[in-house]
Amino acid sequence: MPQIVLEHVTKRWGGFYGMDDLSMVIDDNTFVTLLGPSGCGKTTTLRMIAGLETPTSGRITIGDEVVFDSASGIDVPPNKRHVGFLFQNYALWPNMTVYQNIAFGLENDKSYTKAMIAERVEQVSKIVKIGPFMKRYPSELSGGQQQRVAIARTLAPQPKVLFMDEPLSNLDAKLRLEMRSELQRLHIETGATFVYVTHDQMEAMTLATKICLIDNGVLQQYDAPLDVYHAPINLFTADFVGNPSINFANASGAQRADGVVELGQLFGRQVTFVPSEPTVLDEWYAAQHEADAAEAADLEVRSKAKGFVTKENTESNFKYRVSTVDDLGGVAQELSDSESDFVIGIRPELIEVRDTGAFEAEVYSSMPTGMETTVKLRIGDLLLTGVIFGPAIYKIGQSVRFDIDGNVMLFSRKNTRLIASGTIAVA
Ligand SMILES: Nc1ncnc2c1ncn2[C@@H]1O[C@H](COP(=O)(O)OP(=O)(O)OP(=O)(O)O)[C@@H](O)[C@H]1O
Ligand SMILES: [Mg+2]
Repeated sequence: MPQIVLEHVTKRWGGFYGMDDLSMVIDDNTFVTLLGPSGCGKTTTLRMIAGLETPTSGRITIGDEVVFDSASGIDVPPNKRHVGFLFQNYALWPNMTVYQNIAFGLENDKSYTKAMIAERVEQVSKIVKIGPFMKRYPSELSGGQQQRVAIARTLAPQPKVLFMDEPLSNLDAKLRLEMRSELQRLHIETGATFVYVTHDQMEAMTLATKICLIDNGVLQQYDAPLDVYHAPINLFTADFVGNPSINFANASGAQRADGVVELGQLFGRQVTFVPSEPTVLDEWYAAQHEADAAEAADLEVRSKAKGFVTKENTESNFKYRVSTVDDLGGVAQELSDSESDFVIGIRPELIEVRDTGAFEAEVYSSMPTGMETTVKLRIGDLLLTGVIFGPAIYKIGQSVRFDIDGNVMLFSRKNTRLIASGTIAVA
């Protein structure tokens, strides 16, 4: 069964790069989600792999076959790529019943007898729970039901590679959750390779074996969901995954000879950052400079190639935010970004409210769901979101104490990348 290899795949319209120099391997049998904000290039990428959009340059291989190569002029049409797809704007045949819509793709396949088709249609319609509607026409179905018919139609021919572009977007929250778990089972049962586009980070996290996180036409990180969660490569990926979002706090300081970074005041206490793996800041920055120089040199080479067009994309819209009480009216602070300026990333589940806690705060808001409570803690003007497991009840305005338990992340404010994970120690 096929793996998909993308090498230096670029799609641009004039000077606007929908996808810039994407190289990645989608392993056989994996469930890869393409995730990123609206307009970042997810659909474009999927359409290029499926053959519905012609890349400006690069090479795409599915299984043993090169399906696109700008250098040698190969461009295999979509229907010869042996893939199934389900797009954001799916269209059902309006003059066919649900049954006929689902059976349609099988009827051209000589290996299916009438009885086999009926059996297969029944199987897939059970999976997406549209059994009772087989005789209806698409106009007699709700949006969500139509979407499920479209999913069934795509699944019916048992494609080895399945592309899906926001296939659950029309479903209500409950059905969406149910369909997610069905898709996950389906992936295992069919042994197919799934490539799935979504802008919903929860969906991307829960379904994927690997997440491909894109911002403004540039691949940011391609890793297993929990790796993206615990070791995001930069502030963008840290912020994009996780619900509630990660907390960011500004800090500045210097590293001691023993590796500990003195950070000065954080949430009213004198703190240090203790890296969990030995990390030497100067060495880290030296390696960063080297990597940046190599990338600049690579761009220099590429820019000399025939047909190169200077990128006109405006910079990424992402800016990390430190949550404060006067968020709405607050004036953006101009902060220095030298090599001793950092951003600390604190996942909400690290906040532990307890009487012996090192930090003092006031409860700003408290939202219990029964299973857990999301609290916003106010420390001076700063707000810190925590998730407390269990049925905890807090009063607004109540004074509490808290600790930061477990690994936080230290990012460079200068280049926004992750330096190290480690713990916060209070002096
Ligand atoms: N034919 C085109 N000409 C010019 N620009 C285009 C064209 N098609 C897409 N784009 C641009 O390319 C970028 C990526 O579009 P794409 O559809 O891949 O986004 P997306 O990540 O799927 O977003 P969404 O989540 O909103 O569906 C967008 O900024 C879009 O405006
Ligand atoms: Mg899209």
